Amino acid sequence: MSQQIAPNPLRLLAAQTQTVKPKETKMTAMTQTAPDYTAIKTKQNAAWSSGDYAKIGVTLQITGEELAEATDPTPGASVLDVAGGNGNATLAFARRWCNVTSTDYVESLLDGGRVRAEAEALNVSFQKADAEALPFEDASFDIVTSTFGVMFAPNQNKAASELTRVCRSGGKIAMANWTPESFIGALFKTLGRHVPPPAGVQSPANWGATSWVQEHFSAEAASISMKMRNFNFRYPSPRHFVDFFRTYYGPVHKAFLALDAAGQAQLEADILATIDRFNVATDGTMIVPSEYAQIVIEKR
Ligand SMILES: C[S@@+](CC[C@H](N)C(=O)[O-])C[C@H]1O[C@@H](n2cnc3c(N)ncnc32)[C@H](O)[C@@H]1O
Repeated sequence: MSQQIAPNPLRLLAAQTQTVKPKETKMTAMTQTAPDYTAIKTKQNAAWSSGDYAKIGVTLQITGEELAEATDPTPGASVLDVAGGNGNATLAFARRWCNVTSTDYVESLLDGGRVRAEAEALNVSFQKADAEALPFEDASFDIVTSTFGVMFAPNQNKAASELTRVCRSGGKIAMANWTPESFIGALFKTLGRHVPPPAGVQSPANWGATSWVQEHFSAEAASISMKMRNFNFRYPSPRHFVDFFRTYYGPVHKAFLALDAAGQAQLEADILATIDRFNVATDGTMIVPSEYAQIVIEKR
């Protein structure tokens, strides 16, 4: 979906880019008891540790490359990849001579990133870290990045403030986040109809919505650029996608495990119907464009 352009010739961004004017952050009243984020994260960690996300992560590499380019990184820049999985954004920045610290809370995914970085002799250090409690001093990094990672942290306010805290003044926060209207947004809604998410936890796809990004980052932003892009999920067939995600993508893997045989059949049918709404292939294969927001925030 294309968005209105705020004219800004200096930015050299493509037609769908929107430069969002930072606005005052509003305080929202805390009327509900906060969810038990620790318990939720333990469960989520088990989900991301299941299957083998690395097999899917490598297919998304182009999104990390595009995001790294969008930040116009200086060689030698210090970069923190948050919820970096097996190294999508990590490798992209390291290939541009940045000094990358790659973090995630799943050790086995970091191990996968380490193997990839070693194979290319790239300058990366790896550290286990929770996106909601980053073990770094304030203003430690020139660029703080996350591709489809930090958006899954359940305490969204805390995760957003952590990204901002560890980024230096004048540095950049760069993210790729699925939008609420995207195929992956729809996939999570489908999963949620069969296996409801924990009470009080907001949709990860909020991180792809312009108003949400504005509300959570404006207070410390000099500028916010959002470009709506598509990533094409290309698979031999819709059924192959379902089998692949059921086997390797933790949240889908766990959702199927939580259901009995009848529930599993219904979930499979629902995912196939969701794919059908987005599939642009006409030869029995699957090409599903999934919209994501490519976001670059300059910290004041
Ligand atoms: C969809 S994967 C994306 C991984 C990688 N950034 C990529 O682009 O391929 C989501 C990642 O977020 C990580 N993650 C989710 N919640 C996290 C948290 N609270 N702290 C650290 N990592 C988290 C998961 O372990 C997983 O690696």
